[in-house]
Amino acid sequence: MHEQTVQIVSHERDAESYFRLVLRAPQIAPLIQPGQFAHVRILPLKDALLRRPFSIFQVAGDTFSILYKNVGKGTQALSRMRAGEELSVIAPLGHGFTVPKAGGETPLLVAGGYGMAAMFLLAQRSTQRGIVFVGGRRRVDILCEKDFAAIGWEVRVATEDGSHGEKGFVTIPLLAELKRTAAKRKLFACGPTPMLKAVGKIAEDFNMPAELSMDEHMCCGVGTCLACVIKVKAGDSWEYQRTCTEGPVYDSRQIVWEGTK
Ligand SMILES: Cc1cc2nc3c(=O)[nH]c(=O)nc-3n(C[C@H](O)[C@H](O)[C@H](O)COP(=O)(O)OP(=O)(O)OC[C@H]3O[C@@H](n4cnc5c(N)ncnc54)[C@H](O)[C@@H]3O)c2cc1C
Ligand code: FES
Repeated sequence: MHEQTVQIVSHERDAESYFRLVLRAPQIAPLIQPGQFAHVRILPLKDALLRRPFSIFQVAGDTFSILYKNVGKGTQALSRMRAGEELSVIAPLGHGFTVPKAGGETPLLVAGGYGMAAMFLLAQRSTQRGIVFVGGRRRVDILCEKDFAAIGWEVRVATEDGSHGEKGFVTIPLLAELKRTAAKRKLFACGPTPMLKAVGKIAEDFNMPAELSMDEHMCCGVGTCLACVIKVKAGDSWEYQRTCTEGPVYDSRQIVWEGTK
């Protein structure tokens, strides 16, 4: 983990309120594992002390990128920044996904909205190709379809308004696929908590392994403030764990869903 002031290499709008931001970070880029995140201080922001967490989307040479949605004052300030300007970044942070190996279970990735950002590096580093299930409210919320297809992954899409792919939640095409066959398959998911909870339930019903990247509000990002805790099973009881350090990725069987948002 490094704290580094990094320069914006490029910054482009992806679709509507989504942006792709590429940062030059020679100390950080080689260390990144799929599912880890960067804690970003947006220097032009007035309360710049508060960092924002973003999954690491792609890594190329001495750069890494994030794919983010403009949702509030931090991301709005970020969206106004240009190539050549600087950000402060602490990364790579957190405990990421287990990268699927050849001969192991076939990976099925499930992503909702910007959750897709946490999935691309996993797909790229996996020696096993699989299927990506992408869900969102509308067509514009379906990110990276072409990126996944370009690295040989099959993509299945669902939108809540039916404007692209199947109509409904992303769990509909996932369930249809698992009903065909669930043997020797493993789920990996990132997205809103209700989606993660649904994927956790599906994994339980089909008695299959799943790794979930939990989406909790974070403050320090490095394990000191306890803003990001969730309940995790510990023997016959449970304990709080910090999603910024022990997570954000957990085996779905570890999560105690009661009390999550
Ligand atoms: C581990 C992790 C990885 C993330 N990766 C990405 C990513 O790759 N791309 C991306 O666009 N976003 C990602 N997020 C969410 C991102 O951190 C927030 O959207 C961002 O901090 C909002 O900052 P803001 O100042 O613009 O919004 P604020 O003004 O702080 O809030 C605006 C709205 O966003 C909501 N919000 C803030 N944080 C979160 C959160 N963690 N989850 C859900 N809603 C939130 C607030 O409740 C509020 O409704 C990630 C969050 C975590 C914890
Ligand atoms: S965000 Fe501070 S402990 Fe996790």
